[in-house]
Amino acid sequence: MSILTRIEQGVLTIEFDRLDKKNAITAAMYQQMADALRAAATDDAVRAIVIRGKDEIFTAGNDLEDFLKRPPSSEEDAAKAPVFQFLHEISHAAKPLVAAVSGPAVGIGTTLLLHCDLVYAAEGARFSLPFVQLGLCPEAASSLLLPRLAGYQRAAEKLLLGEPFSAQEAQQIGLVTRVVAGAELHDFALAQARKLAALPASSLRETKRLMKGADTAQMETQMAQEGAVFRRLLQSPEAKEAFTAFFEKRKPDFSRFN
Ligand code: COA
Repeated sequence: MSILTRIEQGVLTIEFDRLDKKNAITAAMYQQMADALRAAATDDAVRAIVIRGKDEIFTAGNDLEDFLKRPPSSEEDAAKAPVFQFLHEISHAAKPLVAAVSGPAVGIGTTLLLHCDLVYAAEGARFSLPFVQLGLCPEAASSLLLPRLAGYQRAAEKLLLGEPFSAQEAQQIGLVTRVVAGAELHDFALAQARKLAALPASSLRETKRLMKGADTAQMETQMAQEGAVFRRLLQSPEAKEAFTAFFEKRKPDFSRFN
């Protein structure tokens, strides 16, 4: 299993554990995370949730081999797809979510943070949204949430160019709550989650719902629109060239596509 889960002192920890592939997320891993989040929603033993990777890397994002070999073929397929289930659970979680990011957080590794409540990053963390570079488009409602958070021009730089940015910049644009020394990150995030777990759960739930409530419908609409475009682009020759180039360890050549 490439996702570790444990519940201790009111905190569910979900940890990426596929270091040999840079914690790239497969369909099976999305399913495990979706199932863990769904179970946590009704488990009184869980009062806060931590999502973390390893010291070396948070996650390299979606597994590119899955994209290449197992793209969702229809809208019905997509609705049941583990990634969609995961995005639904994380974006509708009533319990507080704490993320701890060390090393690279690529693609969905960055967009999932837009659905977390407290986001802590190690000094050396690097964020990137290389959807356009892969011939794709943003997901997880990031095309709505990132411009809203960072302002259009700052979000456009991140989403159009897809270049990595630092923990300090991520904090400046509002994506990261606090930058923490690398050696302290995972303990610090757990301690913050334990603080949340000790607070009145109903007050936390209501406060989170009041902060997010009005935006939920718009977020869902945007996620569905992104999903439709994403599925179409996944089948495009540009995306196939980008994925193949990654595995052939060469630069993609988009010059023959208009
Ligand atoms: N999907 C599938 N496999 C991946 C992967 C991904 N997203 N990211 C890394 N891997 C695999 C590599 O293919 C390689 O496998 P191998 O050892 O069998 O050749 C292994 O993980 C190590 O990756 P490597 O690229 O050599 O590590 P690195 O330290 O040089 O770079 C990253 C780390 C994260 C910067 C780089 O792997 C990367 O850019 N990955 C792709 C990120 C991406 O585009 N994600 C999709 C976003 S939508």
